[in-house]
Amino acid sequence: MEMVATSCPQFGGLRRSCPTLHTPRSLSFVQHINSQLRLSSSRKPCRAVVAMAGSGKFFVGGNWKCNGTKESITKLVSDLNGAKLESDVDVVVSPPFVYLDMVSSSLTDRIEISAQNSWIGKGGAFTGEISVEQLKDIGCKWVIHGHSERRHIIGEDDQFIGKKAAYALNEGLGVIACIGELLEEREAGKTFDVCFRQLKAFADVVPSWDNVVIAYEPVWAIGTGKVATPQQAQEVHAAVRDWLKKNVSEEVASKTRIIYGGSVNGSNCSELAKQQDIDGFLVGGASLKGAEFATIVNSVTSKKVAA
Ligand code: PGA
Repeated sequence: MEMVATSCPQFGGLRRSCPTLHTPRSLSFVQHINSQLRLSSSRKPCRAVVAMAGSGKFFVGGNWKCNGTKESITKLVSDLNGAKLESDVDVVVSPPFVYLDMVSSSLTDRIEISAQNSWIGKGGAFTGEISVEQLKDIGCKWVIHGHSERRHIIGEDDQFIGKKAAYALNEGLGVIACIGELLEEREAGKTFDVCFRQLKAFADVVPSWDNVVIAYEPVWAIGTGKVATPQQAQEVHAAVRDWLKKNVSEEVASKTRIIYGGSVNGSNCSELAKQQDIDGFLVGGASLKGAEFATIVNSVTSKKVAA
């Protein structure tokens, strides 16, 4: 939907009604806008209308998966350090474990670091595992749990994923909680059932939703170049927000970021970002290129409606 807004160089993240918008328009038009759109921070004197149903700050994560070498990661970090990123976005990258410390010590503080996994409890005799305490020790702020590659390739189930997420949250890490259906589940009309089941497994155990970002990642879209259409993504995001509202609380539904993942790139991010319930992205392949990742981060500007 195209709306007219007062021009504003910065988009503040938090939204509240904008009095300047009311002047030239009829009340019913304004009421309609307010039911569809939220407005940027009241702390700034000028505001832009943004297409955002939630109240959380735009969030973009780069999931580097099992990719990279010292050489390629040094180049990626240098590109990210030099990139111009919009200020109104939480930006996180998730390098492979072995490079976490190197990235954490060379990457700008503007970007936070996430791990791609963590153990279900305190460290100890668990060969091959990485503890939350160790992640915090090297400056990690986030961890990804429930990613489809861990669900479907490694075989992690809802309960195991829930335990890991709960432990990480209890110890103070933020969790990027991934959910998403397989192609056959979508074709069988089970998209919502699967997403809600995975969501409930998180809801049953998380101590609070304060540091949780939900990533909706349809499995058929991950790494396939087959991105969900903005409408397909919006439909699930709105349903997830509604589920939170009914099963957790209205406040959590509003403030929890619901980000989309699955073949997001520099060309499709802007149309996706315009959807009201898309609060950011989790990016795989395209996060390995600094300039393209910056474009995706900066797609937050698509949430602003052109003046
Ligand atoms: P993709 O991966 O962007 O390469 O599809 C997304 C993800 O797995 O988080």
